Amino acid sequence: MTLLPPTRPRPSPQPFQRFIEFKDIRSGDLGFSRRVSRKVYDGPAGAVLAFASVVSLHEPLLGALLRRGTFGVSRFGRILDIGSGAGQILGHLLKEARPDATVVAADLSHRMLRRARNRLKTKRASFVAADVTRLPFADGSFDCVTCGWVIEHLPDPEPGLREMRRVLRPGGSLLLLATEDTVTGALNSRTWKCRTYNRAELRASCERSGLAWTRQFYLSPVHRLLKIGGIIVEAVRVDEPEAQGEIEEAQQLISL
Ligand SMILES: C[S@@+](CC[C@H](N)C(=O)[O-])C[C@H]1O[C@@H](n2cnc3c(N)ncnc32)[C@H](O)[C@@H]1O
Repeated sequence: MTLLPPTRPRPSPQPFQRFIEFKDIRSGDLGFSRRVSRKVYDGPAGAVLAFASVVSLHEPLLGALLRRGTFGVSRFGRILDIGSGAGQILGHLLKEARPDATVVAADLSHRMLRRARNRLKTKRASFVAADVTRLPFADGSFDCVTCGWVIEHLPDPEPGLREMRRVLRPGGSLLLLATEDTVTGALNSRTWKCRTYNRAELRASCERSGLAWTRQFYLSPVHRLLKIGGIIVEAVRVDEPEAQGEIEEAQQLISL
């Protein structure tokens, strides 16, 4: 397994971003963050989520990322999309996955699950109401988990990360997308009532949860140049002690 080179830490959160960011999620508990998410996504914001993802180009650009084989969905036979929302990632997974692959969509909000089902009109995926911190699946049930713009709804990412690792088989892949602590990320956090993540800190949380970052993506060359569009990474479930050693080495390099 080849790890990404160390992620250079930068002071977080930057004072200006911190000033703009919606702050309640960082200071609340899990029960509070669930209540806020349900209120946002069960309400009018959830109803316009699919439209907003198209207008912001997130949905089509993410489709291109999955379609051009960069992530490589056809490697997997059992796929879970957690926090499936209006089915923005799910729709692409259904197009790109092998015909024999099983695809499960899960979300905290029953209303979002209904919206995704109505929008995609698919019988191929199963829809399950679930919280990312308490997934109703056995250990090692999936080869791949996709989780787009969900963990920013948690005060602390680790309970969600550990749970996603648990349901992945050893060596399985997580495609993780999260709001970054940039100015645009902080503005988004106000709209969707979530927090933001510092890239180096989120990587350290993933590593503590047994998920090693192997690749990072940008939605387009312009996003890469301007370092915008959020944190998009592939993280692999690590079990072997030698890989854990590699992670610790990378962490020491970061702290030098
Ligand atoms: C911004 S939408 C993401 C939709 C889609 N994954 C995408 O990439 O565009 C966030 C979704 O996460 C769901 N969500 C929020 N907190 C959650 C939790 N604790 N467990 C599961 N889903 C959650 C919300 O209900 C919402 O549908």
